[in-house]
Amino acid sequence: MSGRRIAVLASGRGSNFEALCTADLGDASVVLLATDNPKAEALIKAKRLGIEKAVFDPGAARGASPAGMEASIAALLEDRGIDLVCLAGFMRILKGPLLDRFEGRILNIHPSLLPSFPGLDAQARALEYGVRITGCTVHYVDAGTDTGPVVLQAAVPVLGTDTVESLSRRILREEHRIYPLAVRLHCEGSIRLDGRTVHFHGTDGIPGPLASL
Ligand code: GRF
Repeated sequence: MSGRRIAVLASGRGSNFEALCTADLGDASVVLLATDNPKAEALIKAKRLGIEKAVFDPGAARGASPAGMEASIAALLEDRGIDLVCLAGFMRILKGPLLDRFEGRILNIHPSLLPSFPGLDAQARALEYGVRITGCTVHYVDAGTDTGPVVLQAAVPVLGTDTVESLSRRILREEHRIYPLAVRLHCEGSIRLDGRTVHFHGTDGIPGPLASL
């Protein structure tokens, strides 16, 4: 297969991982799931989908991103000829080897309209703050927490009756829609990064797939 090869890094449920596996990504495809959590539900999904999986158990060193673990992940990804890394609920901040070796080739999905509510519990904080509109963002990853260049966003209205669960569910539906779209645009070479500005090219401004957003 000559298409772009994608690795997904996930620590938990893995619904975005599954959405990426089952979406039409052109001639790109997800070939590897890597996780830092041996109990991640994503591992069960990978098995069901027939995707190679790798567990990098950091043991006691939770929270930070131990350089050793990141280097091991980077080495495996290089060995498997990975072109694009997709973070999907990966609960670690990348600091070293992955950023160096996959610069401009790491995407993340975040459940808010960045730059509002970066970091943990974005849906709960949006609800507590009282915003009327929140949503999700696909962005390139840099050394900060959810600070990299924005690729796509989708808005989700906050309803008066919302709980964290109901709001998170509606945001998740949008995540599953825009993450594969952003991945496809990247893999097709339709994105040009200029500093922190993302340009879509090969089009007259708005690329075809974005017309549906
Ligand atoms: C999603 O809400 C994503 O935006 C955030 O972590 C969650 C992962 O969910 N980064 P899942 O594991 O993909 O179901």
